[in-house]
Amino acid sequence: IVVDPFDYVVFGATGDLARRKLLPALYHRDLDGQIPEEARIIGVSRRPQSDKAYREMVKEALEAYLKPEELDRKVVAKFLARIRYVGADATTDAGWADLATTLEEGKERIRAFYLATSPDLFGPICEQIGKHNLITEKTRVVVEKPLGKNLKSARATNDAVGRIFAEEQIYRIDHYLGKETVQNLMALRFANALFEPLWNSAHIEHVQITVAESLGVEGRGDYYDTSGALRDMVQNHILQLLCLVAMEPPSSMDADAVRDEKLKVLKSLKPIDTREVNNCTVRGQYKSGVDRAGVVPAYLDEVSNKQSRTETFVAIKAEVNNWRWAGVPFYLRTGKRLATRVSEIIVSFKAIPHSIFDGEEGVPANELVIRLQPDEGVKLWLMIKDPGPGGMRLKRVALDMSFAAAFKVRNPDAYERLLLDVIRGNATLFMRRDEVEQAWTWIDPILDAWAASDKPPKPYMAGSWGPDEARDLIRIGNPAREWHE
Ligand code: BG6
Repeated sequence: IVVDPFDYVVFGATGDLARRKLLPALYHRDLDGQIPEEARIIGVSRRPQSDKAYREMVKEALEAYLKPEELDRKVVAKFLARIRYVGADATTDAGWADLATTLEEGKERIRAFYLATSPDLFGPICEQIGKHNLITEKTRVVVEKPLGKNLKSARATNDAVGRIFAEEQIYRIDHYLGKETVQNLMALRFANALFEPLWNSAHIEHVQITVAESLGVEGRGDYYDTSGALRDMVQNHILQLLCLVAMEPPSSMDADAVRDEKLKVLKSLKPIDTREVNNCTVRGQYKSGVDRAGVVPAYLDEVSNKQSRTETFVAIKAEVNNWRWAGVPFYLRTGKRLATRVSEIIVSFKAIPHSIFDGEEGVPANELVIRLQPDEGVKLWLMIKDPGPGGMRLKRVALDMSFAAAFKVRNPDAYERLLLDVIRGNATLFMRRDEVEQAWTWIDPILDAWAASDKPPKPYMAGSWGPDEARDLIRIGNPAREWHE
């Protein structure tokens, strides 16, 4: 379905996110015929350059980040014709009158400002937008992570954006929420009667959420070194996944109905403070190691601070203290330079109370594996009778649903969905202010406890599954519990 006419104003137009994700995503929507004739994309950054020069950069970005077979000459030409460029400085008035003139032509359209810049510019950019009267009735603003480095700075950023825009106009991106398989979590839970009755502490032994990356910090060392895995991945993506697994059924898919339920989960998270931090968290940093591509350098060789204690791996035992989940550990794990790239959620059910099969004690428990990427799919591990006349032997097999095999359609990038949801005015897959701040409320004490500790992160070999201590963490209370690897 074609969306309403819009002007997308992208600040940080020459940056990595715009070139790698935003422009290719908008191109794909154009290719699918979802973008109306008159819609425009207006790139803004500090450096002055002509529309023509910026179009050339956009063309190069499409060529660099899309597959040759995805590039249709006619659609590329049409897409490039939508592109404008304005040079404007976030912290001075330079260029803002030009932006106002460019926008005047589209004043009836939906206007979306996308802030793909460093977060310290969010406040100044919003202020300039306000000062130059660029807000119409149909205006909204999209902000990218990181939203703060802790609760205090997150509040300051939210205040700065909130001084100019109303909460309903603010779209806080967490691109994990735009992933097809993440949205499928809601379908799986709330469009099937099968799981919900079992979805609680009476039947679930534990939950694992892993977002493992095989790449290192990839030239983003300076940003990453001020962030670390807890801020970069857990505060946002992983806690959002936890919310979708743990939340109560919302009354509808309405943005606030869903976000109210997620907020309740975040509020139920048991705080991890200085006393608890060593029992509930493991932080690691990769050393040089060997992965599939050969020898890879240590983290400390990739960043300027050679004494850095920034964690590139974290494992956490989280608990959701509410009626449904009391006593069920949620193990969260993420890291760079791990053995493979995989994001998955494992729901591990309780074992049967008693085996009636001779010689078959310790029957493995059922497991639901929701694979977010790559090889997206859902697997349910069951016990069956091993075929043959040899007696009653049991075997573990999986009911296996692969998205690629079942649907044979291209899996759209998360940004494709999210960028157009902004135009549609659908905020269900975006974070509300209170969610972001509640997530920081839980993260802050962990950061403080780590900062106060004299212990450095545990070393692990690049290409491994992280420090051994992560293995010990999951075994506490049940020595048979293992990470899914
Ligand atoms: C980003 C992080 O938010 O997510 C990156 O800043 C990380 O460090 C990326 O690599 C992972 O996203 P995806 O979609 O590749 O799993």
